[in-house]
Amino acid sequence: MEISLEGKVALVTGAGPNIGSGIALALSKYGAKVAVNDVSKESIDAAIARIERNGGEAMAAPGDVTDEETVKGYVSSVLGKWGKIDILVNNAALLGGRGVLDETEEGFRRAVLVSAMGTFLNTKWVGRSMAERGVKGSIVCISSSNGWNGSAGVCAYAFHKGGVNNFVRAAAMDLAPYGIRVNSFTPTAPNPDNPELLAQWAREGRTPFGLRPGATGGLGAPEGTDEPWRKPARFEGPRNPMVPMGTTGTPTDIGHAVAWLCSDYARLISGIDLVVDGGARAKNFAYVPAGPDSIAGPLPLIVLDETPPFEG
Ligand SMILES: NC(=O)c1ccc[n+]([C@@H]2O[C@H](COP(=O)([O-])OP(=O)(O)OC[C@H]3O[C@@H](n4cnc5c(N)ncnc54)[C@H](O)[C@@H]3O)[C@@H](O)[C@H]2O)c1
Repeated sequence: MEISLEGKVALVTGAGPNIGSGIALALSKYGAKVAVNDVSKESIDAAIARIERNGGEAMAAPGDVTDEETVKGYVSSVLGKWGKIDILVNNAALLGGRGVLDETEEGFRRAVLVSAMGTFLNTKWVGRSMAERGVKGSIVCISSSNGWNGSAGVCAYAFHKGGVNNFVRAAAMDLAPYGIRVNSFTPTAPNPDNPELLAQWAREGRTPFGLRPGATGGLGAPEGTDEPWRKPARFEGPRNPMVPMGTTGTPTDIGHAVAWLCSDYARLISGIDLVVDGGARAKNFAYVPAGPDSIAGPLPLIVLDETPPFEG
């Protein structure tokens, strides 16, 4: 029994080199033709090139997910080229941000707009295209652990990812009569594994791991000297021990799971959240990490990007 997306057409928004590109590649490796959206032409070109060098078929669907005419335009160009859309992955978002004492009106507004309006407009126009054509499709909205739990320093992000979680349940109700499924997927700080991104980070001297083993410092700590009452609200430190299986995985792990969620095997799964995080979110507050020697680790990763490593 093999999972296959052969004959299906997918649209992935925000196909940057990390998770969006990883999901787009996975859908392609499982057999779908993939349209990749982003505001960045560079990201679209790189995601298409990655799919094509791995033997898949892709097209560009450029533009800002918050603009309705733009969304209608690229949805229509995908329909014009491939006749239908079976899979939508609402992935575009602005990461990072600030805490409630520091976030700006414009920063909050734009972050919420990209996530809320982008998710709504793409679901609306792709959902309409599915319903009109009798396509019993799958829509996946990318959430975040910040949509379920609180972290200091990301109040707009927490607000819109929490919104995504309940939007999914409402849209699942709207689209159920058409056989269209709507679910969320929650990544939790995956370790990037796009060879091109890793090569770029190596050139920039950045650590390739989302979960840094021994980082120190603080987020939300006092900025400047004119507010002596400010308290730090979040610290960095070893995160791996906070993940019961020792790793939150990679965009490839996310891609396998999203591909399965979009396959016909998941035909009755709607309105749920799927999470791949090595047990990170399941912990009780009293969780005490095991020592590294006590963690067997997961099975080996089933790799999807089969191209040779990029030169650094
Ligand atoms: N990286 C993580 O640790 C992490 C953890 C949990 C959830 N997520 C979620 O996964 C998704 C992808 O994250 P990522 O790390 O790959 O982020 P990323 O920043 O690398 O990619 C997001 C992409 O969205 C694009 N984008 C932004 N605004 C847009 C707009 N208006 N229209 C079209 N495209 C737009 C950006 O250009 C970028 O390429 C996001 O929804 C993010 O919230 C990420």
